[in-house]
Amino acid sequence: MSFSKLVFTPLSYVGWGSLEQLVPEVQNYQPKKILVVTDPLLEKIGIVQEVTSPLEEAGYEITLYTEVVPESPLQTGEKLVSFTRKGQFDMVIGIGGGSALDLAKLAAVFAVHEGKVADYLHLTGTKKVEKRGLPKILIPTTSGTGSEVTNLAVLSLETTKDVISHDYLLADVAIVDPKLTISVPSNITAATGVDALTHAIEAYISVHASPVTDGLALQAIRLIGRSLQMAVHNGEDKQARIDMSNGSYLAGLAFFNAGVAGVHALAYPLGGQFHLSHGESNAVLLPYVLAYIRRSCPKRMVDILEALGGTAFSLSTEEASYICVETLRNLIDEVGIPSKLADFNIPEAALDGLTIDAAKQKRLLARSPLPLNEEDIRIIYQAAFEGVIKERS
Ligand SMILES: [Fe+2]
Repeated sequence: MSFSKLVFTPLSYVGWGSLEQLVPEVQNYQPKKILVVTDPLLEKIGIVQEVTSPLEEAGYEITLYTEVVPESPLQTGEKLVSFTRKGQFDMVIGIGGGSALDLAKLAAVFAVHEGKVADYLHLTGTKKVEKRGLPKILIPTTSGTGSEVTNLAVLSLETTKDVISHDYLLADVAIVDPKLTISVPSNITAATGVDALTHAIEAYISVHASPVTDGLALQAIRLIGRSLQMAVHNGEDKQARIDMSNGSYLAGLAFFNAGVAGVHALAYPLGGQFHLSHGESNAVLLPYVLAYIRRSCPKRMVDILEALGGTAFSLSTEEASYICVETLRNLIDEVGIPSKLADFNIPEAALDGLTIDAAKQKRLLARSPLPLNEEDIRIIYQAAFEGVIKERS
């Protein structure tokens, strides 16, 4: 195929102070009753009020829904949708990390659909999204998931995760203000930041990558590569937060259009079975998946190394692609994320079950530059368990 289908959020405001555009944007829709979906912790530390107070001052009626949990289980989505259907809302605003934003998408779209959220799941659902739903504005408070620019909502099932995807799940307006990320604790900055970096890297090596997504992905890697450590160790650093916010937004656009692949496929069961956060799941797997597949895309690995600020000068492609993996390993270690599955108390006996669930993620695995079968996945989990780099023989 010589062309790519590219989909972008209709409207985004990105940058320090962009939150000021919220009230004028809401005014365009003239809503009578707004549902705000957010994380209880964000309400506790006052970030939600920062967003909602100007709306209340402008006379809008707001209902706050804070029953959001990280890595949202399907039941959380079902409960919120049923609440939304009863509430007669005419706009949804999501404030928070990926879970809050994904749930806000579900609330907005399924408010006008029938049946359960489960009926629309990608792997097991039987129904199709047919209506646009309520207008939705998404406001991320972490630099990570990119949910504000994708048409995906991820839900945790009993042992793994599944998604609902449709372009009607895209935000009508995304507001990405790094000011909201200043108070994010360092461990969450690290995990969400590595998630964003993984989005950019997987998009760059995806079989669906295009010159447009390459530009987005490489710039995301540059921005995240130069600022992740500073954002983790000195959260008040404004420039680092701006870089992370821009990087996460670009990575979201890149992976939404080129896809994520093996790292996410293997990460989902870690979240589903062991409740590791999405960011940590990706972080602990990233070096092992890349080491395993690097010989299928060595030049791209060298590009990633250079975007991370490393130098490939005087090195062979083989050497530089190996150093790319090592550079990422060091970066993840430096931001305080454990480097092997054993460190997360995941028993070796669980690796077979993880493999079975990861192999079901065919949509993701199909984008890997090196096709990964069940045997490959099992080898990568073993490598990640032991903390030993293994390459495809
Ligand atoms: Fe992700």
